[in-house]
Amino acid sequence: MAKPPPSLMDKVVSLCKRRGFIFQASEIYGGIGNTYDYGPLGVELKRRVKDAWWSRVVTRRSDIVGLDSAIIQNPRVWEVSGHVGGFADPLIDCKVCKQRFRADHLEDARCPDKPSKKPGEHHCELTEPRSFNLMFKTHIGPVEESGNVAYLRPETAQGIFLNFLNVMQSARLKPPFGIAQIGKSFRNEITPGNFVFRTREFEQAEMEFFVPPAENERWYEFWRKERFQWYVDLGIRPEKLRLREHEASELAHYSTATADVEYEYPFGWGELEGIACRTDYDLKAHSEGSGTDLVYFDPQTRERYTPYVIEPAGGVDRMGLTFLIDAYAEEELEKENRIVLRFHPEIAPTTVGVFPLVKKDGMPEKARELEEELRTSGFTCFYDEKAAIGRRYRRQDEVGTPYCVTIDGDTLTEGTVTIRDRDSMAQDKVKFDEVCAFIQEQIRNYKVAPTG
Ligand code: GAP
Repeated sequence: MAKPPPSLMDKVVSLCKRRGFIFQASEIYGGIGNTYDYGPLGVELKRRVKDAWWSRVVTRRSDIVGLDSAIIQNPRVWEVSGHVGGFADPLIDCKVCKQRFRADHLEDARCPDKPSKKPGEHHCELTEPRSFNLMFKTHIGPVEESGNVAYLRPETAQGIFLNFLNVMQSARLKPPFGIAQIGKSFRNEITPGNFVFRTREFEQAEMEFFVPPAENERWYEFWRKERFQWYVDLGIRPEKLRLREHEASELAHYSTATADVEYEYPFGWGELEGIACRTDYDLKAHSEGSGTDLVYFDPQTRERYTPYVIEPAGGVDRMGLTFLIDAYAEEELEKENRIVLRFHPEIAPTTVGVFPLVKKDGMPEKARELEEELRTSGFTCFYDEKAAIGRRYRRQDEVGTPYCVTIDGDTLTEGTVTIRDRDSMAQDKVKFDEVCAFIQEQIRNYKVAPTG
């Protein structure tokens, strides 16, 4: 039987490995379930996604500040937050194939012995569902005893609640204001999968926005729109995105309303980011649990209240995967096909490719001079003098480099270079001394390509 053609997901996964975005972790030892390492281009992509998030959520606003809290906190934190008691998935084991499934995702699961069937439809012997806590446990100190159990944080949010007073007082803030944090979180997921969509170790970009209770609705509306728009502004096709309001039965124990920004992945619609009304649940719980009053006192109105919280919470790895999938395109050109990642220049791992047309006549030296200037101006660059020029363009298209500069005969005689645009493949002659300014201008005026 003929092999089915690779799916979009297969193509993205294979490109990630081939070009050094994402590798399987511990690969030479056979890997470790759904854990990944980021290679040179993946690191750059992720760093730029985080920078774009930070710039939009923190740097460009006067009412939001940053935080970097510890991964391991006092274990009481997780008791009080409800994670020790309630952060669990219902699990079902199959006694025949020894596979474990999430009871609430059984419909989407496959029997490993017969992938055309769901668990329970083949020779399966399924157990009753039982609760499985998703937090990773560890021990503090040399002895593993129940008294020194600690947890790896399953969300960055709690570190923000713990520092509510510290930050508000030291930064002299009053509601409405926000505290943002990007960092690793850990969940012992039962059914990780779909590449880096769901893993056990992942990065979150979260922001807790503390508001007077009466302003809750207004800010919920604001952050739903703002977070959706961020993805559109960075080039994600709007028709692949939707905002989905949670049903009452789906809401987390701390939330009165939540909307997910969802993307249509090759495996179906999935959550990219959640925007939740967390009310005063966490600050009140930690006030009670710790004995420290986590409230705001307004010196003007003499009013004392526990702020409500609106929380946009996204996964950085999931964002990266979404940008990769959305950017992936295959195009039929006159003489060949090209694979291109149409990343927005703000998140493209490499911004400029620098090529001498040939490896002689002083061109490599001029190209190295330009590369140095671009790097000192803050651009990420890739210098390439191997293979024919067309092939070098293709290699940069495949990793989403928006601009390639070629040093040619005219550079030496007339002081110009050729700048080739990834999307239109148009070529412009630009003065050698004006390359940085030209590229800056192109990035500033970048228009997301029309879809269809
Ligand atoms: N503080 C709220 C919170 O953690 P969540 O919906 O559980 O909410 C927020 O997580 C985001 O973190 C998700 O929308 C998703 O992008 C990302 N995320 C959650 N679990 C993940 C996992 N196992 N692997 C990758 N990303 C994950």
